[in-house]
Amino acid sequence: MRTFLIIYIATFVDWTLGAATLPRDKKTCNGPSTSFSISHIITAAAVFHINDINFLTDPFFSPAGTAFDVGNGNVLTVLGDPAMQPDQIPPIDAVLLSHEDHPDNLDPIGRAHFLDGRKVLTTPDGANNLRPRPGVAALQPWETVPLHVGGETWNITGTPCEHLPGGEVVGFVLRGPGFGYTDGLPNAIWYTGDTIYLKELAQLRDMYHLRAAVFNMGDAHADLGNGSAPIKVTMNGTDVARMFKDVGADILVPMHYSPWSHFWESVEQVKRDFEEAGVADKVIWLTPGQRTRIF
Ligand SMILES: *[C@@H]1O[C@H](CO)[C@@H](O)[C@H](O)[C@H]1NC(C)=O
Ligand SMILES: *[C@@H]1O[C@H](CO)[C@@H](O)[C@H](O)[C@H]1NC(C)=O
Ligand SMILES: *[C@@H]1O[C@H](CO)[C@@H](O)[C@H](O)[C@H]1NC(C)=O
Repeated sequence: MRTFLIIYIATFVDWTLGAATLPRDKKTCNGPSTSFSISHIITAAAVFHINDINFLTDPFFSPAGTAFDVGNGNVLTVLGDPAMQPDQIPPIDAVLLSHEDHPDNLDPIGRAHFLDGRKVLTTPDGANNLRPRPGVAALQPWETVPLHVGGETWNITGTPCEHLPGGEVVGFVLRGPGFGYTDGLPNAIWYTGDTIYLKELAQLRDMYHLRAAVFNMGDAHADLGNGSAPIKVTMNGTDVARMFKDVGADILVPMHYSPWSHFWESVEQVKRDFEEAGVADKVIWLTPGQRTRIF
C-alpha cells in the first residue's frame, strides 16, 4: 500500500511538472511573474532589470560637452550628463552592445568598465574588434544564442538594423525562463538597437508576443562626406510608431532621443508624432537615474 502511494505521488508530481513546461492554450499568458523595469542612464545606456537579471545596454558615461570627432565633418557632442556613473551600476549579468564603433553607444568610460571580464553580445564585426575578450560573443540577425545568466539559460535573438552604411548594428529579443506564452506565442522583450525603419522587422509579430519594445530613436543624421545631404540613421517618432504597430508590442519605451547634437527631432515633436499615430497611451517614458517599472 505504502509503495503504491509513493509511486502514485511520484507519477503525479512528474505529470504536473511536465505539464507546466508545455505551452498553454491560446489566450493564456502563463508568465505573470515576469517583471521588467529600466534604469535609464542616458541615450541608449540603461540597465534592464528583468526578474533577478540585470542587462546593461550600450554603455555611455561621458559628461555634457564631450565631443567626438567621427570623421567626414561629423562631430558628435553630448549635451547632457549621464544620470548614473559606473560606480552606481548594479552587478551586471550581461551587456547588450548594439554596436561598438559609435561613441554615443560605447564611450571610453563604458569601454573601460563594462567590457573586460564581461559577457557581452554584439555584432560579428564588433566581437572581432573587441578580441581577445573571451566573454564577447557575436550575434547575427535572426540568429538565436543561449545566454547563461543567474544559473539559467536565456535565449537571445539578433534582429537586423540599418544604420550608417557599411557598419554593423544588432538588436536583441530577450526571452528568459518563466516568460510564458500569449496566444501561443512566446512572450519576449525587444531592444531595437540603432536602426531606421525596416519593413522586415514586422515578422517579429508572428514570432513573439512582445510585452515591451524599447526603441532607439532621435532622428539621428550623419554626413557621409560625399557631397550629399546628411542621411537619417535612426528613427523619428513617426517611424517608431509605425514599427511599434508592425510588431504588435504591448508597450512602447522610447530611448536614444536626446541629448545629442546629431539628433534632429525634439522630444516635443516625438510626443506629437506619437499622438498623431494614436500610440501615445502605449508609451512609458523613462526618467534618467530612476528605476521605472515597465510591467
Ligand atoms: C531556449 O531555446 C531552447 C531551444 O529551442 C528551448 O528548449 C528553451 O526552452 C528556450 N528557453 C527559453 C528561456 O526560452
Ligand atoms: C553618398 O552616399 C549615399 C549612401 O551610399 C548615396 O545614397 C548618395 O547618392 C551618395 N551621394 C553622392 C553625391 O554620391
Ligand atoms: C519622420 O520620418 C519620415 C520618413 O521615415 C518622414 O516622412 C517624416 O516627415 C518624418 N517626420 C518628421 C517630423 O520629421
